[in-house]
Amino acid sequence: MKYQNILTEISDQIAIIKINRPDQLNALNKETIEELNHAFISSCENKIVRVIILIGSGEKAFIAGADIKEFANFSIEEGIRLSSEGHEKLFNMVEKLPIPVIAAINGFALGGGLELAMSTHIRVASENAKLGLPEVSLGVIPGYGGTQRLAQLIGKGKALELILTAGLISAEEAFQLKLVNHVVPQEELMNKCLSIANKITRNSPVALQAAITAVNAQYQEGKDGMSTEIEEFGKCFGTNDFKEGTSAFLEKRPAKFVRI
Ligand code: COA
Repeated sequence: MKYQNILTEISDQIAIIKINRPDQLNALNKETIEELNHAFISSCENKIVRVIILIGSGEKAFIAGADIKEFANFSIEEGIRLSSEGHEKLFNMVEKLPIPVIAAINGFALGGGLELAMSTHIRVASENAKLGLPEVSLGVIPGYGGTQRLAQLIGKGKALELILTAGLISAEEAFQLKLVNHVVPQEELMNKCLSIANKITRNSPVALQAAITAVNAQYQEGKDGMSTEIEEFGKCFGTNDFKEGTSAFLEKRPAKFVRI
C-alpha cells in the first residue's frame, strides 16, 4: 500500500510510524486510519520488528483529534459507523497488537489523538504536549474508546472531570495523573522512546505478547485477568523462547530470542 498520510521506517528492530499531515495537525481522517491500520499490521507481520513507535510529524501536534471537517455533516448512522470502524480498525487493534507500541506524544494529543495514545502500551510526552478529550465542546463524546480507557488509566473521577470540562492539561499534569509514563524536552523525545524500545527488543517476543494479552484481559468484557495470566504463563513453558531464556540464564550468557 502506498501511503499518502503517514511515513514508516524500520531500523534496529524498531518500526517508526509517523502521521504526516502537519498542516492539519495530524488529524485522523478516514484515509489516515486505513493507512495506520495497514502500517501496524504489516509492521507486526515483519518478523524483524520487535517494537513500534508512533509519532506525529512537526513540532506542534501528535494528533489533534479525529478530522472534524470530515464528520461535521454525519448522520446518526454514519456516527455509529465512524466510531465502531475506528474501534475495530485502529484503537482496539493497537491495544491488542502482539508487539509493544510506544506513543511519542510530541505536541497536541486531543480527542482521537489522546485516544490513540491511550490504546498504545507506553506513553512518553514532550514538555510542550497538551492533552485532552475536548469532544463535548463540539457536541459529541469521545468515540474511539476514550470514555473507557481514560477512566482505566487515571480513575473515574479525574476522567470525568477531564471529559466534562473539555479541558486540556499539560504534559506535567498528565504525568502527575499517570496518563503518561515520562515527560522529556522535545529534542529528547525520540531518544527516550528509542531507549525504552531498545530495552524491550532484548526480551522474549513470545513473553511480550503474553504479557500484553494478560494485562489487557482485566479490561476486556468476558475475560478474567487472573485466569488469562495462568493460561498465558503456562503456554510460555512450551516455547523456544522459554528454553532459550532459561538456558541463557543458567549458562551465564545473554539470551538470543528470535521472533517466529
Ligand atoms: N480536525 C480537522 N482539522 C483540524 C483539527 C481536527 N481535529 N485540528 C486542527 N485542524 C486544522 C485546523 O482546521 C487548521 O486547518 P486550516 O489551516 O485548513 O484551517 C490547522 O489544523 C491548524 O489548526 P489551528 O486551529 O489553526 O491551530 P491553532 O494553533 O490555532 O490551534 C488547536 C490548535 C489544536 C487548539 C486547534 O486546532 C483545535 O482546537 N483543534 C481541534 C481539537 C479537537 O477538538 N479535537 C477533537 C476532535 S473530535
